[in-house]
Amino acid sequence: MPIDADVIKSLHKYEIRILHVLERMMKHYQWVPEDDLRAAVKLSPAEMKYRLGNLIYRDLIRSDSVPYKGYTLIFAGYDALALSDLAAKKTISALGNKVAVGKESEIYEALGFGVVILKLHKVGQRSFQTLRNNREYMPEATHCPWIFASACSASREYEALKALNGKVKVPVPIDINRHCIVMSLVPGANLFRCILEDPDKVYREILEEVKKAYDAGYIHGDLSEYNIMYDGETICLIDWPQWIPPNHQNADATLRHDLDTVITFFAKKYQTAYDLEEAIRFVRT
Ligand SMILES: Nc1ncnc2c1ncn2[C@@H]1O[C@H](COP(=O)(O)OP(=O)(O)OP(=O)(O)O)[C@@H](O)[C@H]1O
Ligand SMILES: [Mg+2]
Repeated sequence: MPIDADVIKSLHKYEIRILHVLERMMKHYQWVPEDDLRAAVKLSPAEMKYRLGNLIYRDLIRSDSVPYKGYTLIFAGYDALALSDLAAKKTISALGNKVAVGKESEIYEALGFGVVILKLHKVGQRSFQTLRNNREYMPEATHCPWIFASACSASREYEALKALNGKVKVPVPIDINRHCIVMSLVPGANLFRCILEDPDKVYREILEEVKKAYDAGYIHGDLSEYNIMYDGETICLIDWPQWIPPNHQNADATLRHDLDTVITFFAKKYQTAYDLEEAIRFVRT
């Protein structure tokens, strides 16, 4: 379901408070017991009931009464927390269209200083459904893994964008909040959608950028024609949460896989015959 900016804007300060408290308490619970939540939020029982009802109605939290009455934050509530903080900081002023749904992310346009891109990392969304259905079987260690996994993925990607900004062609990182990265809008289209007039030139440019990233300490880890944007003039490497450093134990295999994926794409689409070993040598020297 797409994020409804009007719902987020219309949240009452008590509702935001409840979301914050739930977020904090979910470090300890999969389902936060009603009594604990009420004690931490410090609202009257009537106000609490009303505000919780609103949050449930707007599909930002869920409740369950077996084996005890409890509440849990869901991705939409976590989105609301991130976006309302970014709006309060004036990083963004309006939410635009959803532009893509990735395997583990949702991408939106938004207004900041001009049009920007929001990438909301959503790791474990599907498995969380399974976890919720099987809550009584959940071991202690699995309290709310999706919150931590999603924020961790966003922070890894943001770290790479910050480190590579100005050195490698990547989106400009603007801000981060929880699982949401704000970055510049990259013009053009994913490489797999483009018809290249000069594939050799584009391939060389990709190798150059991969080398610059490698020299800066970053191997992409998920490089492909889907994670390279091209606007007819220049390329941009996107989607960095899976990066690893060149001294990582899987560095050789990961770099090889990244380059092999790109070379295979060019070979299939443009009948090129780029040499993988040569590409690896180029990047590493
Ligand atoms: N900064 C950006 N500017 C323009 N478009 C972007 C930007 N970031 C992401 N996109 C678009 O959103 C899509 C998904 O983003 P991204 O690849 O970062 O996420 P993902 O979860 O890995 O998606 P996938 O599973 O499709 O790889 C991209 O393929 C691209 O079309
Ligand atoms: Mg991608």
